[in-house]
Amino acid sequence: MSVYILGIESSCDDTSAAVICDTTILSNVIAGQAVHAEYGGVVPELASRAHQQNIIPVIDTALKRAGIRADQLSAIAYTNGPGLLGSLLVGSSFAKAMAFGLDIPIIEADHLQAHVLANFLNAKDEEKPKPSFPFLCLTVSGGHTMILKVNDYFDMQVLGKTIDDAAGEAFDKAAKILGLPYPGGPVIDKLAKEGDPKRFSFAIAHIPGLDFSFSGLKTSFLYFIRDNLKENPNFIEENKADLAASIQYAIIKSLTDKVAKALKEHKCNDLVLAGGVSANSGLREAMRTLADKTHRQLFLPAFSLTTDNAAMVAVCGYFKYLKHEFSSLNAAPYSVQRL
Ligand code: KG4
Ligand code: ZN
Repeated sequence: MSVYILGIESSCDDTSAAVICDTTILSNVIAGQAVHAEYGGVVPELASRAHQQNIIPVIDTALKRAGIRADQLSAIAYTNGPGLLGSLLVGSSFAKAMAFGLDIPIIEADHLQAHVLANFLNAKDEEKPKPSFPFLCLTVSGGHTMILKVNDYFDMQVLGKTIDDAAGEAFDKAAKILGLPYPGGPVIDKLAKEGDPKRFSFAIAHIPGLDFSFSGLKTSFLYFIRDNLKENPNFIEENKADLAASIQYAIIKSLTDKVAKALKEHKCNDLVLAGGVSANSGLREAMRTLADKTHRQLFLPAFSLTTDNAAMVAVCGYFKYLKHEFSSLNAAPYSVQRL
């Protein structure tokens, strides 16, 4: 019998609801929050208020687009962390109340596991190959940067992680320094396509093992821009595309150097990319080159599944549903990474 899961995601600044049938997406609705743009980053209190406004219409639209009635749902999966507590509380409280009202199970999903498991989703009428365990997954978002060895759906071993900023944060901060809007990742990506990545060189942190560091890169970018602006007030305007391409190159190189090292040290056939930064065209290309060079099969999430969305939460719920791993109404959201 088919399993219908409603997924709810509200960990940061996107309110999202999705309905899936087994691993097929029937709907995936995402309401962004423009309110943060003028502050150059997410304001937690404003985020939770916007989630409250968005959650009912978003869930209603997701059910309508899927053509599914609430009483046909098998279970409701929701993001329980990590994320902003006020934001998580909106999605988790709603999920619990709705599941209680419908008398169906609730399933909690970890946001990072959900990003990884997005690679197991299909669009309607699509059947594509899936990664096989164990695989190596570079998970890169606005809040997290990790290399995971994924042994099973919910057995993910952290091989390396950032010791300071996340890769998405590095993109966003570099964009801010260039006077570009938030979130900066997509804007840098677009500009970088017109620029020369070798025009300026920024030092990549050399830290031991498989960990990452991006704070030094951000500081050297800041000082480089500040010093050049003293000589030429139009420095950013005249070199915007090259600056974007060069900082993107440095971020991607820090990521792929460590993935290459991890591939040498850990036995895995498949290579997988996940998280918001996996939308980056330069990173996708660099991972493709690395996979070809090391004879690994590469799995990239569809663009619509890279940044925060509820379909990835729903598929996390689906795999737990199969194992009857349901959660209780007492489960409390958490802000800090648990992997
Ligand atoms: O996964 P996500 O939606 O939220 C978190 O869980 O953090 O990731 C958001 C991050 C932001 O930092 C954003 O700038 C970055 O993903 N991002 C990109 C691109 N699209 C989104 N970074 C680089 N290139 C992109 N095309
Ligand atoms: Zn995310």
